[in-house]
Amino acid sequence: MKTLIKNGTVVNSTGTASADVLIDGETIAAVLAPGSHLLGFDIEKNVDTVIDATGKYVIPGGVDAHTHMEMPFGGTNASDTFETGTRAAAWGGTTSIVDFVVQYPDQNVLDQYHAWHEKAAGNCAIDYGFHQILSDVQDSSLVAMDELIKEGVSSFKLFMAYKGVFLSDDGQILRAFQKGAQNGALMMMHAENGAVIDVLVKQAIEAGNTSPYYHGLTRPWQAEEEATHRAIMIANLTGAPLYVVHVSAKQAVEQIAHARDLGQNVFGETCPQYLYLSLEEQLGAPGFEGAKWVCSTPLRSRAEGHQHHMWQALRTNDIQMVSTDHCPFCMKGQKDMGIGDFSKIPNGIGSVEHRMDLLYQGVVEGNISLERWVEVTSTTPSRMFGMYGKKGVIQPGADADVVVYNPNGHTSIGLNKTHHMNMDYSAWEGFEIDGHVDTVLSRGKVIVDGDEYVGAKGDGKYFKRGLSQYLI
Ligand code: URP
Ligand code: ZN
Ligand code: ZN
Ligand code: ZN
Repeated sequence: MKTLIKNGTVVNSTGTASADVLIDGETIAAVLAPGSHLLGFDIEKNVDTVIDATGKYVIPGGVDAHTHMEMPFGGTNASDTFETGTRAAAWGGTTSIVDFVVQYPDQNVLDQYHAWHEKAAGNCAIDYGFHQILSDVQDSSLVAMDELIKEGVSSFKLFMAYKGVFLSDDGQILRAFQKGAQNGALMMMHAENGAVIDVLVKQAIEAGNTSPYYHGLTRPWQAEEEATHRAIMIANLTGAPLYVVHVSAKQAVEQIAHARDLGQNVFGETCPQYLYLSLEEQLGAPGFEGAKWVCSTPLRSRAEGHQHHMWQALRTNDIQMVSTDHCPFCMKGQKDMGIGDFSKIPNGIGSVEHRMDLLYQGVVEGNISLERWVEVTSTTPSRMFGMYGKKGVIQPGADADVVVYNPNGHTSIGLNKTHHMNMDYSAWEGFEIDGHVDTVLSRGKVIVDGDEYVGAKGDGKYFKRGLSQYLI
């Protein structure tokens, strides 16, 4: 099966050019000068399918390196399965995810890894890889890290918060980082000072401050800055590369930027919610509405300027990439467990379908360039997590994960429940995007055509990742 995407504007992180993209089977065969003639040979006549991309961008499919499909968390499970979540991702122009295998303290790491394969296999619309969460790091977890790298799991998330659930103490973090320094793994950190947060939460509830707004106030930026600094210092001590997930506070960005300026392998990810949403407008919504936006790290104060600073950090590469931290819960039966006690609201926001659009709007509004859009949503995630060459780039030899994006189209997010995630609300209701995902190909197969999903369950395959290709 050969496909030609003709007359489009091909956008890679390195530049933009008018070009035709020839796909042979699952792979990009050539990126050609427009016109589809090569030494007198008419390519268009020799392919099975022609997609006309006149006036449109042709970009590498999005790589969302932070999702939690079916994650057991907060006394319930994230509401998207691998099937519903990856299909929604496809609709939004994301063609790969890296999901987190969860290991709780009483569970065996490798057993959990195999369990995640069982959940995902045969169910995904797009390709998927795994990171491994390590909770309460023990000797066996360190042994498992070596095993998992051979399986293509080259990144490990630890937590400085959620005592008794995910938290590892500083000594445990040190040992895991020592192992990472040895075997080349990228160490990922949920950087919030959990002990401080636990006391603030208890005090707020005791004082009768139970609404979702207090979720934000009890997880202050100081707890994020301090933990980010501590993680950077432990990484520095051990020589392990560090990737800080879901960075939301400008002070945490400053810690990352400072370490990078000193030459340390430290990286930061932010999420659309930290670019667009705020403590005042969303978490502070009337009644229990704010529960829709309870996630950790929390939405930050717009008055303090975090969102503005985060866009700037994206431009300057103080923050390298954008993932969703897709962890959806319905209001009914899930988020509502926290009525009367915000600490019982399951933490997470669902955005996997909207990341490409939301960041494209950043291009429209002049916050980032077109090439930077591709870089932060696709190319860097691919390089950061050992997928580059296959994912995150339009070039010969790469997987034909391609999105035709229409800058003259329009997307009204969440309107009349039109999103495809398994949620009974949208955290992005009312957001208007001056662009539209027109066509999505996953390894050469069209899976989204116009507004129609035309792929099949099981199209997506496990991606065995290598070590990070982003290290200094
Ligand atoms: O609120 C969030 N972020 N939920 C998902 C779990 C995590 O910490 O990433
Ligand atoms: Zn986290
Ligand atoms: Zn997460
Ligand atoms: Zn549409």
